[in-house]
Amino acid sequence: MAFKFYSKINVPELPENVNWNEYTFRQKTHEVHSQTKTIPLIWDEKLKGEIIYHRWYSYFEDFLSTLPLGLGYIQSAILIKLPAGKCIPSHIDSAPFFKKYSRIHIPVTTNDECFFTVGDETKNLKVGEIWEIDNDNQYHSVVNGGTTDRIHLLIDFFRYPDLIISTHSRLLLNESIIHQGKGIYYGCFENYVISRRDPDFLVNIKTGEEHVIPSKFTHDCIFNQGKIYIADTGNGRIVILNKDFTVYKIHSIFTVQNHVNTLLFDQGVLWCLLHNKGPSILVGIDPETGERLKTFNNVGVQSHGLVRYNKGFLILSSAESHLIHLSDTGTIKVLCSVPGHFLKGLASKGNLVFFGASPPFPRGNRGDPGLMCDLVCFDLEKKIIVSKTKLQTCGLLNNII
Ligand SMILES: [Fe+2]
Repeated sequence: MAFKFYSKINVPELPENVNWNEYTFRQKTHEVHSQTKTIPLIWDEKLKGEIIYHRWYSYFEDFLSTLPLGLGYIQSAILIKLPAGKCIPSHIDSAPFFKKYSRIHIPVTTNDECFFTVGDETKNLKVGEIWEIDNDNQYHSVVNGGTTDRIHLLIDFFRYPDLIISTHSRLLLNESIIHQGKGIYYGCFENYVISRRDPDFLVNIKTGEEHVIPSKFTHDCIFNQGKIYIADTGNGRIVILNKDFTVYKIHSIFTVQNHVNTLLFDQGVLWCLLHNKGPSILVGIDPETGERLKTFNNVGVQSHGLVRYNKGFLILSSAESHLIHLSDTGTIKVLCSVPGHFLKGLASKGNLVFFGASPPFPRGNRGDPGLMCDLVCFDLEKKIIVSKTKLQTCGLLNNII
């Protein structure tokens, strides 16, 4: 792929008082860009992956936050002016930095004599068109043979890996609906998702086949070594099924008040997070006997979500709006907060953590089609929230894998 077209959008007018001569680092440092001028918006000149906002960012903030690029975050956004009659000679952007990001170009002003060449393809890109170019594998160059300046918004975009998101009325693959109309969607594994309909089902989203499960008000299900582990919240039980959906074992070890809602298998221990309708509890059990092996009290309030990380766990203290780290020794540290939101649905992919943040909403209306939730991404290395994306969840966001 040399060029990939996304869509066409309206580009904002540039403010009249921008000074193209104020910031000169990029054109002075990189010989190939010496004929260009730069306005940095989000830009780490050291290419270390830090997210650094510059003076003119706030002017473009709304525009950047609504760009239809899919799920991900903007690492760099810079305006580049190539004056009339100037060029950018052929080169490859070879620093390791560029391998991580998709390079996006959006012409802001241009003319019919501007030509962008990537590999052996040459195009005249039009104003408002969103294009991705392969800048780290293929030689690319630009000629502005016209009599007016060419200005592009150039973006380095980090694309998230695929996420399956369960909500009160939809199952999403990233931003696309892959299943709906089958009750409340909860935990999932492989091609199966919990569909809460009283009775509750496991639904195969590829084939549509459905299996009734002996579980009520089900919250989670995970698969480990040939067994399906189900959080039977409404009966205070852990239900274990064989791969053919027959019952293997049922551990009646919790109460309904415990509200077991998230399961995690780690090194032979089945960890069960108890929301507890208040201060929450994390319990590690022997999956064969149901015996309690370890208990952590006060792991957030009305907590959801459980991920193993850095000699401990990541948990959402939903009612406190925090993402917390619980160490194996019991120490709790708040990693980030989304004030005023109820957090639910937690998954990690490498150093990125994804969770849902729902605005305040009456409990009875959790499936309201008007409810949209934010998908929040927290970078465990950068220690910042790198994106919040409004999703058409059509109800509360319940689970992410
Ligand atoms: Fe380049």
